[in-house]
Amino acid sequence: MASLTPLQHRAHPDADLQRVEAALREAATTEDDFLTEVASHLIPAGGKRLRPAFVIAAALSLDPNGDQSERLTDEMVRGGVAVELVHLGSLYHDDVMDEAETRRGIEAVNHRWGNLTAILAGDFLLAKASELAASLGTEVAELLAATIGHLCEGQVRELQLIYDINRNEEQYLQAISGKTAELYATSCRIGGIVGGADRSVVDQLTEFGHAYGMAFQVVDDILDLIATDEELGKPSGNDLKEGVYTLPVIRMIAGGDPIAELLGQQLDEEIRDQARAAVIQGPEIATSIATAQMYVDKALSALVALPDTPGVQGMRDAATNLLSALER
Ligand code: IPE
Ligand code: IPE
Ligand code: MG
Ligand code: MG
Repeated sequence: MASLTPLQHRAHPDADLQRVEAALREAATTEDDFLTEVASHLIPAGGKRLRPAFVIAAALSLDPNGDQSERLTDEMVRGGVAVELVHLGSLYHDDVMDEAETRRGIEAVNHRWGNLTAILAGDFLLAKASELAASLGTEVAELLAATIGHLCEGQVRELQLIYDINRNEEQYLQAISGKTAELYATSCRIGGIVGGADRSVVDQLTEFGHAYGMAFQVVDDILDLIATDEELGKPSGNDLKEGVYTLPVIRMIAGGDPIAELLGQQLDEEIRDQARAAVIQGPEIATSIATAQMYVDKALSALVALPDTPGVQGMRDAATNLLSALER
């Protein structure tokens, strides 16, 4: 699969990520052994680390020598860890909401230790993110706090329309903007701020991140319909089962497809697979891929005024390659 990481034009992307990794593990370590175990659970299990990689690429976007290892500062690493901690905390809470059993190919935190522990450990990770963000200045601290708020708003918007077969595209786009695109926008924005870019560049990087994040969630939602549990490392088909009707499904229902008669309630696996097969056979997967492509194009156009540095090249290639995850 084509590389999704924006670090692909860095000389030693693995070394960059190792610095992020060490700081991430440290942030999840506390005096309490049990909390450390729970808060660290998903870190070694994997994850693409895309958000910290975008912080780094954006931070180096104006640097013609941005491929060199020594250009990566501790502040950039800390910015990356802060956004990854927000992402991680949100996954703990999201898996409670989705009643997920697996995440990153291992047992989900809620399934292993229960919802209460998962909620508290998720809160702890968000608190740690805020602490790190504060060390990067008031603007970054305020930005990350606002982003956590937007994430909650997006998740609540989704929750309010769970099992609602009348959910429309506008409502869907508003929810994914809050729950996913805002954190990508903030990752790129923090990179720009920490890297010392001027306001107009910081705004262009932010616009890129938002559009990339929209495309990212549309792709994730398509994968939930067409990929397997093994490919995803998390339960596939869960959106249909749990009543989260995503873009292809919304379009099918709007087109008058009888799939609507199956939906509107929690599904057993047999009905879920029936509904899923119907979606896969319809044209809505292709039209949703076209929508994701439209957001990719929007992301790319946000970068046109920026110089052709390793950071910008990495961001551009990451966006261009995003849809390759759907090739099968
Ligand atoms: C999963 O994000 C949650 C969504 C916003 C769809 P990622 O796909 O980035 O998850 P990891 O970090 O790689 O596990
Ligand atoms: C993303 O939505 C959730 C967050 C932004 C936390 P999903 O519910 O689609 O994420 P996955 O598919 O469980 O990773
Ligand atoms: Mg989920
Ligand atoms: Mg999903």
